[in-house]
Amino acid sequence: MTDQPARLVRVVPGGPVLVEGPVCIELPDGGVVESDRFMVAICACRRSKTYPLCDTSHRRRQRGDEQSAHSAAGGT
Ligand code: FES
Repeated sequence: MTDQPARLVRVVPGGPVLVEGPVCIELPDGGVVESDRFMVAICACRRSKTYPLCDTSHRRRQRGDEQSAHSAAGGT
């Protein structure tokens, strides 16, 4: 362990992973995205148009999934 306090990381169910900023995100292709925001929302659904940062697209997916599940169950 270091002397620095633990960084807070919060997993939002069905949403992003919130990380205390600033952050430097290294992508699998070698790209790097930096953010100096106080709290950074990292996309966990891979639908963000600003990936790896969350753009709230996960909310639209959840509604669609609920409608699909409702229709599959015989709902209207
Ligand atoms: S988690 Fe928010 S857009 Fe992916």
